[in-house]
Amino acid sequence: MKICMIGTGYVGLVSGACFADLGNTVYCVDKDQEKIDMLNSGEIPIYEPGLKEIVKKNYFSNRLKFTNDLAKAVRFSDIVFICVGTPTSKKNKSADLSFIFDVAKKISKNISRFKIIVVKSTVPVTTGDKIEKIISKIKNKKLFEVVSNPEFLREGEAIRDFRYPDRIVIGSSNNKITRKLESLYEPLIKKGSIFFSTSRRGAEMIKYASNAFLATKISYINEIANFCEKTDVNVEDVSLGMGLDKRIGSRFLRAGPAYGGSCFPKDTKAITVTADLFKTNLSIIKSVINSNSNRRMLLIKRIGKILSNRIKNRKITILGVTFKPNTDDMRESTSLIMLPYLNNMGAKITYYDPSGEKNEFKKLKNVLFSSDLSEACLKADLIIIHTEWDEFKSIDFKKICKNKNLKIYDMRNLYSLKKMRSSGLSYYSIGR
Ligand code: UGA
Repeated sequence: MKICMIGTGYVGLVSGACFADLGNTVYCVDKDQEKIDMLNSGEIPIYEPGLKEIVKKNYFSNRLKFTNDLAKAVRFSDIVFICVGTPTSKKNKSADLSFIFDVAKKISKNISRFKIIVVKSTVPVTTGDKIEKIISKIKNKKLFEVVSNPEFLREGEAIRDFRYPDRIVIGSSNNKITRKLESLYEPLIKKGSIFFSTSRRGAEMIKYASNAFLATKISYINEIANFCEKTDVNVEDVSLGMGLDKRIGSRFLRAGPAYGGSCFPKDTKAITVTADLFKTNLSIIKSVINSNSNRRMLLIKRIGKILSNRIKNRKITILGVTFKPNTDDMRESTSLIMLPYLNNMGAKITYYDPSGEKNEFKKLKNVLFSSDLSEACLKADLIIIHTEWDEFKSIDFKKICKNKNLKIYDMRNLYSLKKMRSSGLSYYSIGR
């Protein structure tokens, strides 16, 4: 099929490359000329394992093209995917839909034959209706159909998530269009992914409700972890024990720092604001937002306790500062609060991250980036494991750190409690 993806962020670029890999011809469009130049010269503007290879292969097979010419890409395509960002609005906590509506207007000017317009961006319920209204002001309704097809891929695991999704959700009241999109996804459905069709509003709601539910699951286990710490119970046993109940399931029950990233914090806020507009109080999600925001300070207080509240001049090494592994994304990462706070308290911080130095910390006095894990840990009083990168999973702490009084705070429970206790290291973790 002939497709175009408007927006080359995580969703647009990954889906575009993977659709091309399935044999479709795909135009990826972005108004950012620098990004397009990068992509055309074989560079990938985002950090996503495996993406570069897929992009390269399909680019050279002429199935994947990058352009800033939206008009040309839309005219060429049968299916137009909207994949632009919906960040938190600067005015309130709702989703800023200006990029979506702007793209909708541009698309409308370039429809000369029938187009399926698919919204892949995460948008509040009824956004599809608004897009339809915008386009129908310029073009006859018979010339297009607006469909919702939310994306569920995770950063750092985006390729696998695209290729093997649990489900593919299509929201449309038009059966013919639903079947057409089903055939686009047929290679994935054949491998076992479930195809689920519903109304357009239903699909929009499914995306927000899913993200908010996963955020709830994480906050839930994080609060249980707080309770476990007070009662000498291992939260990992609790997660496993709970997860064995198929009604609950074990995934997204890993206690850790506050959840972060470009999606959960933004989407939990946006769904509550949208629901408020519809006079519905999503009180559970509101308390999840609160719980997650309180968690940042709670963990910082725990760091103080571990250091007997003597933070000034203590050497703290932070391993991993991104919100999750296999990404360079810093958005809403707990580290953005933790590092400046500890720095303010007079700590001498060194951080190491496999994805490199971060602009966010460059201006902080007494915060240094080290490009070498061992060097970063050498003189530490406290090592904090903040992100669960693979290379942090088997560190020989005694070998790489010279400080006999070293303390370790493992915020991702990467190490066995039993082994760490018997090794004589001063080891702290989450909920155990
Ligand atoms: C999330 C969803 O998982 C995707 O399904 C969705 O498509 C995406 O948002 C989106 O809306 O675009 P993502 O934010 O990339 O994906 O990453 P996750 O793996 O979900 O992690 C989010 C946060 O939750 C991270 O801070 C992670 O450390 C935390 N988390 C996750 C936990 O603390 N515990 C867990 O058990 C799982």
